[in-house]
Amino acid sequence: MTKRDDDISSSETTARGMRRNLATYGDPGFSLFLRKAFIKAAGFSDDALDRPIIGITNTFSDFNPCHGNVPRLIEAVKRGVMLAGGLPMEFPTISIHESFANPTSMFLRNLMAIDTEEMIRAQPCDSVVLIGGCDKTVPAQLMGAVSADVPAIQLITGPMLVGHHKGEVLGACTDCRRLWGQHRAGQIDEAEIEVLSGRLAPTQGTCMVMGTASTMGCLAEALGIALPGSGTIPATHADRIRAAEASGREAVRLARGGPKPSEILTETAFRNALTVLQAIGGSTNGLVHLAAIARRAGLSIDLAEFDAIGRKVPVLIDLKPSGDHYMEHFHWAGGVPKLMKELGDHLDRSAPTIDGRTIGEIADAAEDVPNQSIIRTAASPVKPTGGMAVLRGNLAPGGAVIKHSAASPALLKHTGRAVVFASVEDMVRRMDDPDLDVKADDVLVLTNAGPKGAPGMPEAGYIPIPKKLAQAGIKDMVRISDARMSGTAFGTIVLHITPESAVGGPLGLVRNGDMIRLDVASREIALLVDDAELQRRKAEWQPPAHLTEDTRGYRHLYLTTVLQADEGCDFAFC
Ligand code: FES
Repeated sequence: MTKRDDDISSSETTARGMRRNLATYGDPGFSLFLRKAFIKAAGFSDDALDRPIIGITNTFSDFNPCHGNVPRLIEAVKRGVMLAGGLPMEFPTISIHESFANPTSMFLRNLMAIDTEEMIRAQPCDSVVLIGGCDKTVPAQLMGAVSADVPAIQLITGPMLVGHHKGEVLGACTDCRRLWGQHRAGQIDEAEIEVLSGRLAPTQGTCMVMGTASTMGCLAEALGIALPGSGTIPATHADRIRAAEASGREAVRLARGGPKPSEILTETAFRNALTVLQAIGGSTNGLVHLAAIARRAGLSIDLAEFDAIGRKVPVLIDLKPSGDHYMEHFHWAGGVPKLMKELGDHLDRSAPTIDGRTIGEIADAAEDVPNQSIIRTAASPVKPTGGMAVLRGNLAPGGAVIKHSAASPALLKHTGRAVVFASVEDMVRRMDDPDLDVKADDVLVLTNAGPKGAPGMPEAGYIPIPKKLAQAGIKDMVRISDARMSGTAFGTIVLHITPESAVGGPLGLVRNGDMIRLDVASREIALLVDDAELQRRKAEWQPPAHLTEDTRGYRHLYLTTVLQADEGCDFAFC
């Protein structure tokens, strides 16, 4: 007996094209018949419907200017798919923009991951092109893709071009924060800050410093799930369109038996990604997202290993906020392939990628750009060690992270008096109070801003300098919290303290006037209060009210199942 071409008895994993993932009616033949009848209503021919089907996620949204070029990218992906003999099928998923996601984009990331996974799983995709860019969309798509485990290729929307103001080059959003800080300090008036709001993000695309979006673009390449060189191309450039066409072509090859995400996103790939994360001075959020994607692949990120990588691997990319330049400069200096070439044996060169070459082969083929100074060599790094360190101590038994490449060197060893804010709302209410008891060498502490606490782990870890100190010229202080921070931000800021205060972590036991010691060289964050007193405070501790109230819907799902930062803030059941 031989299998017919239109045999629909094959398993869901081996069936191809229109025969894949049939809706259940109790009669597979009828399911296929009905599917064809409906899709033919859209004018498809039998020839088209017999091709490998390439799903394309449409994450365009009027609320998401970081994805403003998605329609043109989809058009180019479709062209690439058809040139290679496949049938492109675009479908919508959630789109999340940082500034248009209440309470936070992190609150919604897992919803997008579930949406992406289930739509890939439900529909007949032989492979899928994931078009994402803004901070949470790429992690959500990779989480979904590795769970669905259908061959996938990540296409990044790409960074914006830089802005200009009074002869100065500007970038979202490192300069947004710097300039807002100057506005708070009274150095920039209302009229000028309005003008600046039109110049900081001058084109479509993602933030063009080494923020979370840029970090995830680089990590997608390092993981081997995006085409080499495609993570850094500016959103508005013709090369970005060509990368989309090439991704479409590649997706057809993947549909015909290419590796699945589980074969690309291996332990080796994650180790390479952690190495690149350190070397680019990447966003602290990148660590949370890698932990979440790895967890979907059945792996866990070892924070001690990440810290050890950071002690060996220098920061080689001179980009804001750790350095001086922007993504378009990184791209024209050779991008991620050139960086990987400079990283040499810090990377596992044997790791496979979706384009069939190994990471080592891609690094060897990197373009050499004479006289560029953005991608440094190991002999002249931007910083001698990696961008991030993992801290531990009685304040963070499960770990905390600091991006010390973007911190003030003088504050990396500091002991100071705690000034505690009980929540984001409390911080907003009291931060600019002229009577706030705060001095420049104090340690600002924000509690109840973690995954469950806020909820949604807001990027509130970049605690503003109290107005009276900002006006006195103070630009940085030690700041600690269980919150996250935008990858575009800078300062001596300890983040992701685990366990978070809202679930009883020691951060919630800090009181005004306690002494806190930060020692990055020793990887320590310590609350200098004796154990007996901490036990007494622990006995009195109460969770925030919203964790004891009845909830419903997605908020209920989130509050009852979200994990801590060290596990990527995914849902426990995912
Ligand atoms: Fe979308 Fe920065 S807000 S990348």
